[in-house]
Amino acid sequence: MNAPSNPIFSRRPTDRPVAPDVRAGLLQDPGFGKIFTDHMVTIRWTQDRGWHDAEVRARAPIALDPAAAVLHYGQEIFEGLKAYNFGNGSIALFRPEQNARRFQASAARMSMPELPETVFLQAVDELVTIDAAWIPEGDGSLYLRPFMFATEAFLGVRPSYEYLFVLIASSVGSYFKGGEKPVTVWVTDRYTRASEGGTGAVKCGGNYAASLAAQAEAIENGCDQVVFLDAAEHRWVEELGGMNVFLVMDDGSLVTPPLSGTILPGITRDAIITLAHKEGQTVREERYSMDQWRSDARSGRLKEAFACGTAAVVASIGKIKSTAGDILIADGSTGPITAAIKAKLVGIQRGEIADEFGWVRRIG
Ligand SMILES: Cc1ncc(COP(=O)(O)O)c(C=O)c1O
Repeated sequence: MNAPSNPIFSRRPTDRPVAPDVRAGLLQDPGFGKIFTDHMVTIRWTQDRGWHDAEVRARAPIALDPAAAVLHYGQEIFEGLKAYNFGNGSIALFRPEQNARRFQASAARMSMPELPETVFLQAVDELVTIDAAWIPEGDGSLYLRPFMFATEAFLGVRPSYEYLFVLIASSVGSYFKGGEKPVTVWVTDRYTRASEGGTGAVKCGGNYAASLAAQAEAIENGCDQVVFLDAAEHRWVEELGGMNVFLVMDDGSLVTPPLSGTILPGITRDAIITLAHKEGQTVREERYSMDQWRSDARSGRLKEAFACGTAAVVASIGKIKSTAGDILIADGSTGPITAAIKAKLVGIQRGEIADEFGWVRRIG
């Protein structure tokens, strides 16, 4: 099923690009995930031909047979990564090979063909190059969304024999509406996200569909994001709906839930652990209970908490809410360690701080 085959990309630029002045208007305040670029990349996979028909073409709706397997059994995976404008025509990506590898891990878990890393990276380079004018200046970036889904028209329950890989791009600003303000999170005791042996460690659409009711509960309770606890005991902190979580203790050490198979191995999480080690900080990847979170926040042992992920990079958590009551973390503002980690990471991503780790991949 996964015989390597590297397709040749054909380029068919759109003959109806968005006019430069209209684009400039859209990029003034892009928000998150609503402004799309002129092009997309598509690559087909069939059982007999492997990967083929790699195309860079006008962004357009996709025709699907109503029996396409994805519409019935949800065989779909995706990724999220960003391209940054370094100025002087230079563009850079942050650790895109990690996204390529996680995309492969997601494919394997969902019984889908693995896209070779080189093809994933080429698709990204092609789209970023052709749509470079869509990368906002300043704090913005180009959010890249690779995804793949089952297209075979067949209603039997088995892995599809046909797939479409698509890469689209969205010009983005801040992920949270409040910008840099600390977020308030809702701890759900009603819903869980993933259980052992399930799909929590991969990026499949179904995980997010299942998280929406919990996210709605968070919003109803005036929160920005939901915190999930483990499915077995409803006790251990796992992650947020779309971000990993870190706690900063009074001795300056960091605590983050371990990669036990039920949480997503975040690329930002990994970068933060590496940066912290480099700075001589202790990072403990260990289980941390919600009761502990409450008592550490009350006693002052917990100084800061933050969430991290590609979209928002680092978001300080100011307050936790739950049916058991609200807890303010320290004085509810962004703490110095969270701010320092964010500044360092964003600085590396934007080319303002030297990249000692080989994380930045330049295009052009
Ligand atoms: C459930 C979940 N956890 C964590 C993350 C953070 O991962 P990354 O840092 O690779 O963006 C994401 C975002 O992709 C996510 O959806």
